[in-house]
Formats: sequence, C-alpha cells, structure tokens
Amino acid sequence: MLRPQLVALVTLIGSVGVTNAWFRVSCTDPLVQERLDPIISPGVNPSNHVHTISGGSNFNPTYTYNNLRASSCTNCLVAQACLQRPIPAMIMLTASTGFEQLLDPKTKLFEPVPDGGLLVYYQNRGDGDVSNGGSGLKAFPPGLKMITGDPKRRTKKFPIGLGTQDELRERAIQWSCLRFTVGLPGYDDNGTGFPTTDCEGGLNARLHLPACWDGVNLDSADHVSHTAFLSGLDNGVCPTGFVYMMKLFFEVTWSVDNFSGRWNATTDKWPFVYSHGDPTGFGWHGDFQNGWDTTALQNAIDQCNNPNDQTGSGVTEACKFLTVNTADFANKCKIAPVVNEAINGTLTKLPGCNPLQFGPQDATIFTAATCPQ
Ligand SMILES: *[C@@H]1O[C@H](CO)[C@@H](O)[C@H](O)[C@H]1NC(C)=O
Ligand SMILES: *[C@@H]1O[C@H](CO)[C@@H](O)[C@H](O)[C@H]1NC(C)=O
Ligand SMILES: *[C@@H]1O[C@H](CO)[C@@H](O)[C@H](O)[C@H]1NC(C)=O
Ligand SMILES: *[C@@H]1O[C@H](CO)[C@@H](O)[C@H](O)[C@H]1NC(C)=O
Repeated sequence: MLRPQLVALVTLIGSVGVTNAWFRVSCTDPLVQERLDPIISPGVNPSNHVHTISGGSNFNPTYTYNNLRASSCTNCLVAQACLQRPIPAMIMLTASTGFEQLLDPKTKLFEPVPDGGLLVYYQNRGDGDVSNGGSGLKAFPPGLKMITGDPKRRTKKFPIGLGTQDELRERAIQWSCLRFTVGLPGYDDNGTGFPTTDCEGGLNARLHLPACWDGVNLDSADHVSHTAFLSGLDNGVCPTGFVYMMKLFFEVTWSVDNFSGRWNATTDKWPFVYSHGDPTGFGWHGDFQNGWDTTALQNAIDQCNNPNDQTGSGVTEACKFLTVNTADFANKCKIAPVVNEAINGTLTKLPGCNPLQFGPQDATIFTAATCPQ
C-alpha cells in the first residue's frame, strides 16, 4: 500500500526547500529493519544499532555489487521485478537510514515510530550538469559506497554557510516539523536538532548525499573522503579533480503524530529518539551502496531528461531505461532479518548497547564488550 505520507509530501516539497528533483523513487515498506551496517561495519553481525534498509534483496552483512545485481527483487519502485516478472533491466540500490523510536514519558518504554517509507530523489545539480553548461553528470560507478551523517554527533559544530566540506556534511542533514494538518506553519531546523513541539503532520527528515566522486576509490577509510559535496550543497562546483555525479537526496517522514496523545509538549521533552541512542537528532545518518546497472542509469541521465517529453519532468514510467513497479508489488520484496532480536513492540532498552547520550560532546559507540549497562 502506498502510504498516505508519500503522496502528501510531493506537494509539501516546495515548502521544505526541495526543488527540481529530476526523478524520484519511492521505497515504501522496508526490505528489512535490523542491526546490520555493511558499509561502516562490514561482516559485523549484529552491528551497533538498528537500520531501516531499502533496496535489493541480496542485502546481507558483506554484500558486494555483484550480489546486489543478482537480487531477485527490491522494495523500491524503480526496480528489477521479483516473483517471476520478466523485466529486462535490473536496477537497484541499497540505502539505509535511521530507525526512530518513541520513549514514552510515562512508561519509559521504547516503541517503534512508523514512517511513510524512503523517498530517493535523483537530482541533476552542480556545474557539471548540462543545464548549467557542464559536460554532463555521471552514473554512480559500480559498487560506490557513500555516507552522510555520523551517529556520534549530538550537536552542530560549524556556522551555517561556512562552506567547508565538514560544514556542508553537517548541513546535509535537515528536518522539518510539519503542522499543516492543524493549520499551523511548520518549521525547519536551521541546525537546532529535534523539534520542541508536537509535529501534527509528522517529522520530515532529509539528507543530501555527496554529488562529487574522486574518480578512483569506491570507498575510503573514513567512508567520506573519496566523495565530496558540491560547494553550495545543492549546486556549485566539485573540488578540483572530482567527477560530477547524479545527486541523491533521501527523505523520510516519521509519523510522530501517531503518538500525540502520549506526551505533552509543554511539560515533556520531545520524546522521540533514534535507534543509535540519540535524543537530539544530530546523529541521523544515511548510507548508500550502488547496485544500479550503470549503463541503464547513464542512459537515463543522458537521454531521459528531455524537456520535450515527460521524461523532462521526472516521470520514471516515460523513461525506457527504467522499470517501474507498483507499490503493492515492491512491498512484497522483504527479507528475513539475520539478527535474531526484537526491535518492534515495546522495549525496555534500544536494541544493542545504545544508552541515550544527550551530548553536546560526541557520543561513545559501545560494543557488547564495552557496554556500561
Ligand atoms: C530557520 O530559518 C528560516 C530562514 O532564515 C526562518 O524563516 C525560520 O524561522 C528559522 N526556523 C527556526 C526554527 O528558527
Ligand atoms: C498512524 O496514524 C495514521 C493516521 O492517523 C493511521 O492511519 C495509521 O494507521 C497509524 N499507524 C500506526 C502504526 O498506528
Ligand atoms: C499540558 O501541560 C500543560 C501544563 O501543565 C497543561 O496546561 C495542558 O493542559 C496540558 N495539555 C494536555 C493536552 O494535557
Ligand atoms: C517491524 O515493524 C515494521 C512495520 O510494521 C515492519 O516493516 C518490520 O518488518 C518489522 N520488523 C521486524 C524485525 O519485525
């Protein structure tokens, strides 16, 4: 089922500063939610905290590009189909984002917060794009890994607009408190961490991935330095020698409004935390490992952004290089968690060792061996 938030957000995007996505891919019900983190902690099972995973069904603690390409389905709507549907192109990505939980002020128990699924925006941005006079954007190279955000973060460290890569990385994570359902204006974070009021229309969180690649390395020791942000985050130039890629942007809206009767914004603190023990919001993060058919994506970039037909307005169905599934169909693509633990229902603690750490100093990442609890 296409959840209502996915539909509603399309009209909200203008109000939260997301414009001109070239095309958008919905990943509705997640592929799986579990404590795996194959980019940061390859092979580690279980990893530190719960993630929500979207993409190809061959996701596992150590998957490769070729594993992903051999997936039988994906929960994203532009996809190689599963369940014997004969589809020519195999197209998939794997993305993981945070998992949000309510800490009930009265019961002190954690409960998962539902979300409206992941929206992945494919944006043509930066001086490398032909619309800006550049020579064209490149598809992600096979197996490229990228991250944005840092689960250790509990505060903002740089003045907005400084323009260094560290500051751009910080600015790449944004949220809005949506209140349109009660006729109130929503508000954006501006680097302030989680909201302070009820968000009657949900909590909308967004994340820019780097659009520049060093042209050589698919990953790096810090998972960051082989990539870079455009100088203006959403536009501008790549650092010298970097390749201009299509730009990815993730959006998730958590249905925090489902819990509005459970807390009082006057007397209780914002009760929602991320699964990495983060009550501030600054540690939200998202990862991407490329599983696209590079040729299909490059063809789409080069030939489907035509202002004279529907491909120019991002209609994925109009682009012959993309295969579009229905939400009903994509939602059947699920895999069993390999980590055997409860993450849904009411919990006395967050899965793994993730005590709440309020900052402002960076949080400590605990392992089972160093866990203070
Ligand atoms: C964020 O900044 C915008 C633009 O300066 C401003 O209109 C808005 O009120 C700010 N929001 C908050 C929560 O401070
Ligand atoms: C959340 O709230 C929406 C709207 O009130 C409702 O349709 C949906 O079923 C709720 N979801 C859960 C998991 O409670
Ligand atoms: C929230 O708390 C304030 C202060 O105690 C109180 O005036 C208000 O009625 C409460 N709101 C609800 C919905 O209970
Ligand atoms: C937890 O619940 C969500 C939403 O109901 C579901 O998509 C997910 O598969 C569940 N995860 C587990 C591990 O049961």
